[in-house]
Amino acid sequence: MLSSNPGPIGIFDSGYGGLTILHGIRQLLPEYDYLYLGDNARAPYGPRSFDVVYEFTRQAVEKLFAMGCHLVILGCNTASAKALRTIQQNDLPKIDPNRRVLGVIRPTAEVIGSLTQSRHVGIFATEGTIRSESYNLEIQKLYPDIQVAGVACPFWVPLVEYNEADSPGADYFVKKRIDQIMREDPLIDAIILGCTHYPLLMPKILKYLPAGVRVVPQGEYVAESLKQYLQRHPDMEQRCSKGAAVHYLTTENPQKFKEQAQIFLHEPVEVENITLG
Ligand code: DGL
Repeated sequence: MLSSNPGPIGIFDSGYGGLTILHGIRQLLPEYDYLYLGDNARAPYGPRSFDVVYEFTRQAVEKLFAMGCHLVILGCNTASAKALRTIQQNDLPKIDPNRRVLGVIRPTAEVIGSLTQSRHVGIFATEGTIRSESYNLEIQKLYPDIQVAGVACPFWVPLVEYNEADSPGADYFVKKRIDQIMREDPLIDAIILGCTHYPLLMPKILKYLPAGVRVVPQGEYVAESLKQYLQRHPDMEQRCSKGAAVHYLTTENPQKFKEQAQIFLHEPVEVENITLG
């Protein structure tokens, strides 16, 4: 039986990347409680199949609901691309029609219309997100005049996870993908970082990006979209507890999570281990 008491806002990611989303959300909405869940033991999700990402994400959402969340944000593009719709349409009505799960792709797609003048947009994301074509579909629905080119960046997540984002090796992989996307469409003037890890590569991305091309990280747009969602849904807003507390859950070793989370958060965190599935 799920609790009807107000609870924290759940933020789910395959690993650490969603911490960039949590950071953006806490900047704008510091008063709420948050429960972050990283499925670090099974990350990365990027190369995994649709069915597996869906199953893992559903388990995580059910866990966050069981731990008191009424609202869960999939702070992971791969999970948003491969699991969000099925969870919203098939699972939520059975679990609890009053609980909600939101993703990060729609809020990012919504803002892109005002950030491009050439109407040529690039997406950097994991293989799974690119293959799903979720960004193309969302952007085309909202802005049929925008052309979208997507490039998968399979080595970017490991570069961040292994703390190599500032190393000379990162230069090679970042430049390679920027060159690739600009060759594919030289008219691109805005590139979405469609993976939660990529903002950590920002210095390298800015180093190689041609002048006049804008980078669009997601954290602040997802946060703004959540703020508007809570304003439009006062019933849900009331069910989000306000104590400015943040708790962290990981399916991996909590000590490992703590050390790695420093790359993303720059603050000490308390972490608990949980099992999914
Ligand atoms: N968090 C994932 C995303 O935003 C990237 C990491 C992964 O592949 O699990 O797509």
